[in-house]
Amino acid sequence: SGHIAIAIDGPAASGKSTLARLLSEALGLTMVNSGEMYRAVTWKVLKSGVDPSDAEAVAKALEQMDIECGVENRLSTIAIDGVRLGPELRTEEVNRSVSLVSAVPEVREKLVDLQRGFLKFTDLVMEGRDIGTVVFPDTPFKIYVDADADVRAERRVAAGEVDAVHDRDREDSSRKTAPLKVAEGAAVLDTSKHTIESGVDAALEILSEQG
Ligand code: C5P
Repeated sequence: SGHIAIAIDGPAASGKSTLARLLSEALGLTMVNSGEMYRAVTWKVLKSGVDPSDAEAVAKALEQMDIECGVENRLSTIAIDGVRLGPELRTEEVNRSVSLVSAVPEVREKLVDLQRGFLKFTDLVMEGRDIGTVVFPDTPFKIYVDADADVRAERRVAAGEVDAVHDRDREDSSRKTAPLKVAEGAAVLDTSKHTIESGVDAALEILSEQG
């Protein structure tokens, strides 16, 4: 397709969501939050009473799900079986189980397909863990966002998310399918060295060099 994808990857609490959102606004692009898609499937798994650590059961439950992605006001939306999801994706329960569910290959296959589908109709910024490595490996625009451990720890506490995030990063980085890592061709941006504004400027500079 002739559309442009900017891939923003990094661990939790790295500042990638804020950066991706501000970049998408600065450039007038659609913002797609791929983490929400994994959270949505996790929410539905839990709601259906399926054990999130039972990969086979998760894959089976996935087959029954009608997942609908969309764009509204330049932001991605997600609905499962007709239920539009939002704040319920950010609960402790979902935080605790999302790494388990997102490690299931069938889940990744399905969601990567849907993620690629966005590019058929819009230019976008997509944030996640495997956007530069798996979803859009051919895009020249890739940023890996990171931050010092203590800065990330502070942000976690501020977000009320202390224990789960650490485990989540470890699980996301060590899983077999699509682990979190710096993609080939990605520039690493350390947000602990930046204010929000200077981080956006640095990202814009990186993108102009990558293009
Ligand atoms: O970005 P966020 O922290 O909301 O993502 C929640 C979880 O979804 C991650 O911890 C990870 O397990 C999973 N995820 C993923 N691949 C992505 C985006 C998110 O596995 N591209």
